[in-house]
Amino acid sequence: MAGDNHRLVVVSNRVGPLSDEGKAGGLAVGLADALRRRGGLWFGWSGQITPEGTGSEIRVEEHGHTALKTIDLSEQEIEGFYFGYANRSLWPLLHYRLDIAAFDRESERVYRAVNRRFAERLTPLLEADDLVWVHDYHFFFLGQELRKAGYDGRLGFFLHIPFCPPDMLTALPASQDLVRAMLDFDVIGFQTDNDRRNFVAFCTQEFGAEDIDGDRLRTADGRIVRASAFPIGIDAEGFAEFAVSDEAREHERMVGSISHGRHQIVGVDRMDYSKGIVERFRGYELLLEDNADLRGQTQFLQVAPLSRGEVEAYADLRVELEGLAGNINGRFATLDWNPIQIMVNGFTRRALAGIYRAAQICMVTPLRDGMNLVAKEFVAAQDRADPGVLILSRFAGARAELPEALIVNPYSPDDLARALRQALEMPLEERQRRHEAMRARVFANTAHNWCETFLAVLDAPAERDLQPRSW
Ligand code: G6P
Repeated sequence: MAGDNHRLVVVSNRVGPLSDEGKAGGLAVGLADALRRRGGLWFGWSGQITPEGTGSEIRVEEHGHTALKTIDLSEQEIEGFYFGYANRSLWPLLHYRLDIAAFDRESERVYRAVNRRFAERLTPLLEADDLVWVHDYHFFFLGQELRKAGYDGRLGFFLHIPFCPPDMLTALPASQDLVRAMLDFDVIGFQTDNDRRNFVAFCTQEFGAEDIDGDRLRTADGRIVRASAFPIGIDAEGFAEFAVSDEAREHERMVGSISHGRHQIVGVDRMDYSKGIVERFRGYELLLEDNADLRGQTQFLQVAPLSRGEVEAYADLRVELEGLAGNINGRFATLDWNPIQIMVNGFTRRALAGIYRAAQICMVTPLRDGMNLVAKEFVAAQDRADPGVLILSRFAGARAELPEALIVNPYSPDDLARALRQALEMPLEERQRRHEAMRARVFANTAHNWCETFLAVLDAPAERDLQPRSW
């Protein structure tokens, strides 16, 4: 295994669960797979809000050869760092939603302070030959802060969400500081080549970095930083096993009992405006509007666990989606048929695998998404003999690896309705052919391979060691 003789230290805002039972999101699933296999330290937020905040005692949980160490956040820290800068400024902006991104000085200040506090708390736990791997948009300044705190070991960063084009990013006050801080990492990973190109374009346009060969940048002060795409995967075998577990079978049966043999369509997303759920509902409505023959023939189940409810855009979305679902049912329902159902509670991963397996069609239609692991999980969960159809947004990172899905423009209800009709009519042989091609890729590029590929690069003899450091 790459870097086996080095301890792996993972840093992310959410830590755990290490078990595969939780309702974890994309990031946690990928990392838990990696840490379960290699062991190491996982450092982050405890999930607790206490007056001590980042000054709290470190909470420690040992799980075999992996330790989870976490600190709390205070009310003021969670507001400025997590709800404020991370989720009101960076999340919408990096998902190309400049129209709803809100910027305020106090949130930015708290975000930077929390990054500094995390660096101060983590530094005493580090050893010189650790591989430190920082994750996601909560910690853009952490590499720089770790350097300032004196850490000189290998530092990697992976961005799980998109990186928007430079013209958009420059709308963020102090965007240069943020991107410059990223350059203190030795290796910077993105989900797709598009994201990497946007990052490199920012660095070359905004501070004259030199693009050496696409994967390496020479900064103005002469250091070399590696920036590459490392598309994340899932534990495909494990997930396929989930799909035939007792719990999955029970859920598959329950879905079957609500659909009464109708074509089952599913969507599974955190309730987030980036996921394109509003447009998806409109596409489904249009399908029913334009195709009277399909009324009574389809059943749409949208699973949308609530997320970040204190951010207004999320609370508004819930109201909008429940209204839309109500309208669709009001328009088309009959005594024995409700065309659409939305559920805001989460499911275990085994239950989800059963829901995917029960579906003939899965709609993964984000307006913008780093990767989207639902697409990969749906593929892994299908019955190979009679697989369902994946409808996939052209703006999901997963599109690069899953071109055999029905690729749609998620902004266009017409396009969505057309794809739904095509999926409903697709012959078995075509479904099998498309599914086998996608399945092969989902099983080849796993979470394990993603992790090992990144760590092999992080562990490689570094160009930076040949360069004087400037900080
Ligand atoms: C996305 C992000 C993760 C985040 C997850 C859940 O997958 O990339 O960093 O943890 O959403 O969001 P939450 O705000 O609940 O952590």
